[in-house]
Amino acid sequence: MVPEIGINLSRGCGNPTGFANLQPGEVVVDFGCGAGIDVILAAHKVGKQGRVVGLDFAPQMIERAKQAVISSGLQERDIELRVADLENSQLPQSFADVVISNCVINLVPDKKSVYGEAYRILKTGGRLAISDVVLTEEIDPRLRERFQEYWAGCLGGALAEDDYWQTIKNAGFAEIKSVSRHTLTPPELEAMASCPGEEFTPAPAKEDLAVVQGKVVSIKFTAVKP
Ligand SMILES: C[S@@+](CC[C@H](N)C(=O)[O-])C[C@H]1O[C@@H](n2cnc3c(N)ncnc32)[C@H](O)[C@@H]1O
Repeated sequence: MVPEIGINLSRGCGNPTGFANLQPGEVVVDFGCGAGIDVILAAHKVGKQGRVVGLDFAPQMIERAKQAVISSGLQERDIELRVADLENSQLPQSFADVVISNCVINLVPDKKSVYGEAYRILKTGGRLAISDVVLTEEIDPRLRERFQEYWAGCLGGALAEDDYWQTIKNAGFAEIKSVSRHTLTPPELEAMASCPGEEFTPAPAKEDLAVVQGKVVSIKFTAVKP
Protein backbone atom coordinates (compact mmCIF):
# COMPACT_ATOMS: atom_id res chain seq x y z
CA MET A 1 0.00 0.00 0.00
CA VAL A 2 1.27 3.51 -0.82
CA PRO A 3 0.60 5.95 2.05
CA GLU A 4 -1.24 9.20 1.47
CA ILE A 5 1.93 11.27 2.01
CA GLY A 6 3.60 9.52 -0.95
CA ILE A 7 0.57 10.05 -3.18
CA ASN A 8 0.00 13.65 -2.12
CA LEU A 9 3.62 14.56 -2.65
CA SER A 10 4.11 12.63 -5.85
CA ARG A 11 5.29 15.02 -8.54
CA GLY A 12 6.08 12.42 -11.15
CA CYS A 13 4.97 12.21 -14.74
CA GLY A 14 5.02 8.45 -15.10
CA ASN A 15 5.28 5.10 -13.36
CA PRO A 16 8.75 3.61 -13.92
CA THR A 17 8.08 0.64 -11.62
CA GLY A 18 5.21 -0.26 -13.97
CA PHE A 19 7.57 -1.00 -16.87
CA ALA A 20 10.94 -1.71 -15.19
CA ASN A 21 10.14 -5.44 -15.00
CA LEU A 22 11.52 -5.52 -11.43
CA GLN A 23 12.29 -8.99 -10.11
CA PRO A 24 12.48 -10.30 -6.52
CA GLY A 25 15.96 -9.79 -5.07
CA GLU A 26 17.00 -6.96 -7.39
CA VAL A 27 18.82 -3.80 -6.32
CA VAL A 28 17.00 -0.64 -7.48
CA VAL A 29 18.10 2.98 -7.27
CA ASP A 30 15.50 5.76 -7.68
CA PHE A 31 17.07 8.95 -9.08
CA GLY A 32 15.19 11.90 -7.51
CA CYS A 33 12.90 9.87 -5.26
CA GLY A 34 10.95 12.88 -3.94
CA ALA A 35 8.44 11.77 -1.29
CA GLY A 36 9.16 8.12 -2.00
CA ILE A 37 6.23 6.78 -3.98
CA ASP A 38 8.35 4.81 -6.44
CA VAL A 39 10.71 3.62 -3.69
CA ILE A 40 7.71 2.01 -1.99
CA LEU A 41 6.34 0.52 -5.20
CA ALA A 42 9.81 -0.83 -6.06
CA ALA A 43 10.24 -2.30 -2.55
CA HIS A 44 7.02 -4.28 -3.00
CA LYS A 45 8.26 -5.67 -6.31
CA VAL A 46 11.81 -6.66 -5.25
CA GLY A 47 10.56 -8.18 -1.99
CA LYS A 48 12.42 -9.00 1.20
CA GLN A 49 15.58 -10.16 -0.60
CA GLY A 50 15.74 -6.98 -2.67
CA ARG A 51 17.19 -3.58 -1.93
CA VAL A 52 16.00 -0.06 -2.82
CA VAL A 53 17.99 3.18 -2.57
CA GLY A 54 16.22 6.53 -3.06
CA LEU A 55 18.36 9.59 -3.83
CA ASP A 56 17.23 13.20 -3.71
CA PHE A 57 19.18 16.40 -3.10
CA ALA A 58 16.36 17.97 -1.05
CA PRO A 59 16.63 16.90 2.61
CA GLN A 60 12.91 17.72 3.11
CA MET A 61 11.95 15.20 0.41
CA ILE A 62 14.19 12.53 1.94
CA GLU A 63 12.52 13.15 5.32
CA ARG A 64 9.08 12.76 3.72
CA ALA A 65 10.17 9.60 1.92
CA LYS A 66 11.37 8.16 5.24
CA GLN A 67 7.97 8.89 6.79
CA ALA A 68 6.24 7.29 3.80
CA VAL A 69 8.34 4.10 4.19
CA ILE A 70 7.34 3.90 7.86
CA SER A 71 3.65 4.56 7.09
CA SER A 72 3.81 1.71 4.55
CA GLY A 73 5.12 -0.67 7.20
CA LEU A 74 8.29 -1.24 5.17
CA GLN A 75 10.80 -0.09 7.80
CA GLU A 76 12.26 -3.62 8.15
CA ARG A 77 13.05 -3.81 4.44
CA ASP A 78 16.43 -3.01 2.92
CA ILE A 79 15.56 0.57 1.95
CA GLU A 80 18.00 3.47 2.13
CA LEU A 81 17.08 7.10 1.53
CA ARG A 82 20.00 9.42 0.96
CA VAL A 83 20.48 13.12 0.37
CA ALA A 84 22.62 13.12 -2.79
CA ASP A 85 23.07 14.95 -6.06
CA LEU A 86 22.39 12.74 -9.06
CA GLU A 87 25.56 13.94 -10.73
CA ASN A 88 27.55 12.32 -7.92
CA SER A 89 25.49 9.69 -6.11
CA GLN A 90 28.38 8.42 -3.93
CA LEU A 91 27.20 4.87 -4.66
CA PRO A 92 29.82 2.30 -5.70
CA GLN A 93 30.18 1.29 -9.30
CA SER A 94 28.29 -1.83 -10.52
CA PHE A 95 25.93 -1.49 -7.55
CA ALA A 96 22.45 -1.65 -9.07
CA ASP A 97 20.39 -3.92 -11.31
CA VAL A 98 18.01 -1.11 -12.20
CA VAL A 99 17.97 2.71 -12.11
CA ILE A 100 14.48 4.18 -12.17
CA SER A 101 13.53 7.87 -12.31
CA ASN A 102 10.22 9.67 -12.52
CA CYS A 103 10.13 13.18 -13.95
CA VAL A 104 13.44 14.35 -12.54
CA ILE A 105 16.22 14.32 -15.13
CA ASN A 106 14.67 17.20 -17.10
CA LEU A 107 15.28 19.27 -13.95
CA VAL A 108 19.01 18.60 -13.87
CA PRO A 109 21.09 21.00 -15.97
CA ASP A 110 23.85 18.44 -16.73
CA LYS A 111 22.06 15.40 -18.13
CA LYS A 112 25.32 13.98 -19.49
CA SER A 113 26.64 13.66 -15.91
CA VAL A 114 23.39 12.11 -14.66
CA TYR A 115 23.34 9.42 -17.35
CA GLY A 116 27.11 8.90 -16.87
CA GLU A 117 26.46 8.33 -13.15
CA ALA A 118 23.58 5.92 -13.86
CA TYR A 119 25.87 3.96 -16.20
CA ARG A 120 28.65 3.85 -13.60
CA ILE A 121 26.48 2.48 -10.78
CA LEU A 122 24.66 -0.11 -12.93
CA LYS A 123 25.97 -3.66 -13.21
CA THR A 124 26.73 -4.97 -16.68
CA GLY A 125 23.34 -5.98 -18.09
CA GLY A 126 21.64 -3.56 -15.68
CA ARG A 127 18.87 -1.37 -17.01
CA LEU A 128 17.23 2.03 -16.95
CA ALA A 129 13.46 2.60 -16.63
CA ILE A 130 12.80 6.31 -16.94
CA SER A 131 9.86 8.72 -17.23
CA ASP A 132 10.85 12.21 -18.32
CA VAL A 133 9.88 15.28 -20.32
CA VAL A 134 11.41 16.40 -23.63
CA LEU A 135 10.70 18.90 -26.39
CA THR A 136 10.01 17.88 -29.99
CA GLU A 137 12.39 20.62 -31.17
CA GLU A 138 14.82 23.21 -29.84
CA ILE A 139 13.12 26.39 -28.61
CA ASP A 140 14.14 30.04 -28.79
CA PRO A 141 16.94 30.60 -26.21
CA ARG A 142 15.12 33.67 -24.82
CA LEU A 143 12.00 31.60 -24.22
CA ARG A 144 14.12 28.88 -22.57
CA GLU A 145 15.68 31.54 -20.32
CA ARG A 146 12.23 32.65 -19.21
CA PHE A 147 11.25 29.06 -18.41
CA GLN A 148 14.55 28.60 -16.59
CA GLU A 149 13.63 31.26 -14.08
CA TYR A 150 11.64 28.41 -12.50
CA TRP A 151 13.52 25.18 -13.07
CA ALA A 152 10.97 23.25 -11.03
CA GLY A 153 8.46 23.84 -13.81
CA CYS A 154 10.17 21.15 -15.89
CA LEU A 155 10.22 23.19 -19.13
CA GLY A 156 13.44 25.19 -18.70
CA GLY A 157 15.57 22.05 -18.55
CA ALA A 158 13.78 19.89 -21.08
CA LEU A 159 16.08 18.90 -23.96
CA ALA A 160 15.10 18.52 -27.58
CA GLU A 161 14.23 14.84 -28.00
CA ASP A 162 17.04 14.01 -30.49
CA ASP A 163 19.65 15.50 -28.13
CA TYR A 164 18.13 13.55 -25.24
CA TRP A 165 18.47 10.15 -26.99
CA GLN A 166 21.98 11.07 -28.12
CA THR A 167 22.97 11.88 -24.51
CA ILE A 168 21.83 8.40 -23.42
CA LYS A 169 23.68 6.70 -26.30
CA ASN A 170 26.81 8.73 -25.58
CA ALA A 171 26.73 7.56 -21.95
CA GLY A 172 27.10 4.01 -23.32
CA PHE A 173 23.54 2.67 -23.10
CA ALA A 174 22.13 0.28 -25.72
CA GLU A 175 18.74 -1.25 -26.52
CA ILE A 176 16.98 2.08 -25.92
CA LYS A 177 13.27 1.25 -26.21
CA SER A 178 10.41 3.71 -26.01
CA VAL A 179 7.58 2.38 -23.82
CA SER A 180 5.24 5.29 -24.46
CA ARG A 181 5.27 8.82 -25.76
CA HIS A 182 2.52 11.32 -25.11
CA THR A 183 2.25 14.95 -26.22
CA LEU A 184 0.98 17.01 -23.29
CA THR A 185 -2.53 18.41 -23.67
CA PRO A 186 -3.03 22.12 -22.82
CA PRO A 187 -4.21 21.38 -19.23
CA GLU A 188 -1.34 18.91 -18.72
CA LEU A 189 1.17 21.44 -20.03
CA GLU A 190 -0.17 24.12 -17.71
CA ALA A 191 0.05 21.81 -14.71
CA MET A 192 3.58 20.71 -15.65
CA ALA A 193 4.79 24.28 -16.17
CA SER A 194 3.87 25.26 -12.63
CA CYS A 195 4.93 21.98 -10.98
CA PRO A 196 5.04 21.45 -7.98
CA GLY A 197 2.28 24.07 -7.60
CA GLU A 198 1.73 27.76 -8.30
CA GLU A 199 2.81 28.67 -4.75
CA PHE A 200 6.34 27.47 -5.70
CA THR A 201 6.44 27.98 -9.45
CA PRO A 202 4.24 30.76 -10.81
CA ALA A 203 2.60 29.86 -14.12
CA PRO A 204 4.56 31.10 -17.16
CA ALA A 205 3.02 33.76 -19.39
CA LYS A 206 0.16 32.35 -21.50
CA GLU A 207 1.90 33.51 -24.73
CA ASP A 208 5.06 31.60 -23.76
CA LEU A 209 3.10 28.42 -23.08
CA ALA A 210 1.24 28.81 -26.38
CA VAL A 211 4.59 28.69 -28.25
CA VAL A 212 5.46 25.26 -26.81
CA GLN A 213 1.94 23.83 -27.04
CA GLY A 214 2.14 20.49 -28.87
CA LYS A 215 5.94 20.41 -28.47
CA VAL A 216 6.25 19.06 -24.92
CA VAL A 217 6.29 15.30 -24.69
CA SER A 218 6.17 12.91 -21.78
CA ILE A 219 8.39 9.90 -22.55
CA LYS A 220 8.87 6.52 -20.90
CA PHE A 221 11.71 4.28 -21.96
CA THR A 222 14.06 1.49 -20.99
CA ALA A 223 17.74 0.99 -21.90
CA VAL A 224 20.50 -1.48 -21.03
CA LYS A 225 24.13 -1.17 -19.94
CA PRO A 226 25.77 -3.69 -22.32
C1 LIG B 1 9.19 16.51 -10.06
S1 LIG B 1 9.88 15.88 -8.56
C2 LIG B 1 9.62 14.11 -8.79
C3 LIG B 1 9.77 13.33 -7.51
C4 LIG B 1 9.45 11.85 -7.58
N1 LIG B 1 10.31 11.18 -8.54
C5 LIG B 1 7.99 11.59 -7.91
O1 LIG B 1 7.72 11.02 -8.98
O2 LIG B 1 7.14 11.95 -7.11
C6 LIG B 1 11.62 16.08 -8.84
C7 LIG B 1 12.51 15.65 -7.69
O3 LIG B 1 13.86 15.65 -8.16
C8 LIG B 1 14.71 16.16 -7.16
N2 LIG B 1 15.92 16.65 -7.85
C9 LIG B 1 16.00 17.62 -8.81
N3 LIG B 1 17.27 17.81 -9.21
C10 LIG B 1 18.03 16.93 -8.50
C11 LIG B 1 19.44 16.65 -8.46
N4 LIG B 1 20.33 17.29 -9.24
N5 LIG B 1 19.87 15.69 -7.60
C12 LIG B 1 18.99 15.04 -6.80
N6 LIG B 1 17.66 15.27 -6.79
C13 LIG B 1 17.18 16.19 -7.64
C14 LIG B 1 13.86 17.23 -6.47
O4 LIG B 1 14.33 17.53 -5.19
C15 LIG B 1 12.47 16.58 -6.48
O5 LIG B 1 12.23 15.83 -5.31
